[in-house]
Amino acid sequence: MPLDFRLDERVALVTGGTRGLGFEIARAFAAAGAGVIVASRHQEACERAAAKLRAAGADALGIQCHVGHWGEVERLAEAAEGWRGGVDVLVNNAGMSPLYERVSDISEELWDKVISVNLKGPFRLSALLGEAMRRRGRGSIVNVSSMGAVRPTADIVPYAAAKAGLNAMTAALAGAFGPEVRVNCIMPGPFLTDISSHWDQQRFADLARTFPLRRGGRPEEVAGAALYLASDASSFTTGAVIPVDGGGQWSQAGTGEPHGS
Ligand SMILES: NC(=O)c1ccc[n+]([C@@H]2O[C@H](COP(=O)([O-])OP(=O)(O)OC[C@H]3O[C@@H](n4cnc5c(N)ncnc54)[C@H](OP(=O)(O)O)[C@@H]3O)[C@@H](O)[C@H]2O)c1
Repeated sequence: MPLDFRLDERVALVTGGTRGLGFEIARAFAAAGAGVIVASRHQEACERAAAKLRAAGADALGIQCHVGHWGEVERLAEAAEGWRGGVDVLVNNAGMSPLYERVSDISEELWDKVISVNLKGPFRLSALLGEAMRRRGRGSIVNVSSMGAVRPTADIVPYAAAKAGLNAMTAALAGAFGPEVRVNCIMPGPFLTDISSHWDQQRFADLARTFPLRRGGRPEEVAGAALYLASDASSFTTGAVIPVDGGGQWSQAGTGEPHGS
C-alpha cells in the first residue's frame, strides 16, 4: 500500500495557526487537501490567516479563542465540530513562555497562565474533540511541546513543567482514545519565529554553530512531522514524542510576551 500523506475530506483545527509554526502546519495541511480551521486570541489575525489559505485554494475558517480559558476552548470545540462535519485532526500548537528575572518573581498569575495556555487548554480541547473523533471512528491529535520539556533550564521553569505535562498527556490520551484516535507530540527545538526575536541573537548564533545542522529551524520545517502525524502515513504511531530540533543541545528561552495577554 502506498504511503498516504493526503488529508482530503478531513477537517484540521490548528491552535495558534495564525503565524509561526502553526501557520506553516495549517498551510501544509491545506496543501494536502484538508479543510483548515485556524484559532488564536485575535479574530482579525484568524480571519487574515484563513483568507491567505483560501487565496491558495483551500477551504479555511478562522475562529477566535484564548486556549488558556476553559469556556473559550469549549466554544471553539463546538464551533469547530459544527463546520464541515467535525474535526478529524487537532493540532494543539498555541503556546507561550513569558520572561522573568528570578524564579521567585514568578507570580501565581504567571504560573497559572503558562500552565493554562500550554497544558490546560490542550487537555480540554483534546478531551472534547478526542471523544468526538472516537465516536466517528477516526482522528489524530498532534501536540506541540518543546525540547524544554526534556532539557529544562532556569529561564523556563513553568513552561518546561507545562510542556513536560503535555508530553505525559500525549501517552495518556493515546491510551484513552485508541484505537480509533492516535495522539502524538512534536518537540520543536529552536525555530526562527516571532519567539526567536526575543533571544540573545549572538548567544544563539554561537550555540547554533554547535548543532549537528548548524542553524535554527525555518518555520516550514516543522510541517513534515506534523503532516506525517496527522495523516495515515503514521497509522501505527501513537503516544510518540518526536524531536524536531536540528539535533542541537538546546532548550527554549522565554518569548518576552507580556504576562497579562
Ligand atoms: N519557535 C520555537 O523555537 C519553539 C521551540 C519550542 C517549542 N515551540 C512551541 O511551538 C508552538 C508555536 O510556537 P511559535 O514559535 O510558532 O510561536 P509564535 O510565532 O509566537 O506564534 C504563536 C501562535 O499562538 C497564538 N497564541 C498565543 N497565545 C495564545 C493563546 N493563549 N490562545 C490561542 N492562541 C494563542 C498566536 O496568535 P495570537 O497572538 O493571535 O493569539 C500565534 O498564532 C508553541 O507551543 C511553542 O511553545 C516553539
